[in-house]
Amino acid sequence: MADHKDIDEQSWQALASAAITVRERAYAPYSAFAVGAAILTTDGRIFTGCNVENATYGATSCAERTAIGSAVAAGAREFSALCVITDVEHPSAPCGICRQVIAEFCDDLPIMMINPAGARAFTTLDELLPLRFSGRDFKFSR
Ligand code: THU
Repeated sequence: MADHKDIDEQSWQALASAAITVRERAYAPYSAFAVGAAILTTDGRIFTGCNVENATYGATSCAERTAIGSAVAAGAREFSALCVITDVEHPSAPCGICRQVIAEFCDDLPIMMINPAGARAFTTLDELLPLRFSGRDFKFSR
């Protein structure tokens, strides 16, 4: 079971700072809802992503998936923490699609949700997506 205390405060601060910076590059002309995400790899690297919207709406990529895609493209697939920043009073949690994509790479993951005013909330993938379907389920089908 992941816990936010598994990650030291310095790492959470580095993730928060990276997420704040990348959120400024969000492409969100339709929703005007800018999101930033920063993911920490088990070997200490940080990859970032912002939401990238599209006129067809459904082609939009969330910040979390942009960050994971960037990490995977760089050869990183093992993660130890994620930070997401949204400008709302109660910092938003990753959407359902992003939860499933996080689950592709993580058994569990501590997640920090923040806002620009300094609010912080913590959760985990297990909490956000219990009883999930994953590649491990294939093992039992053969
Ligand atoms: N969004 C994210 O980037 N991450 C989430 O987990 C929730 C939603 C983006 C998608 C869209 O650009 C905007 O927020 C409004 O839904």
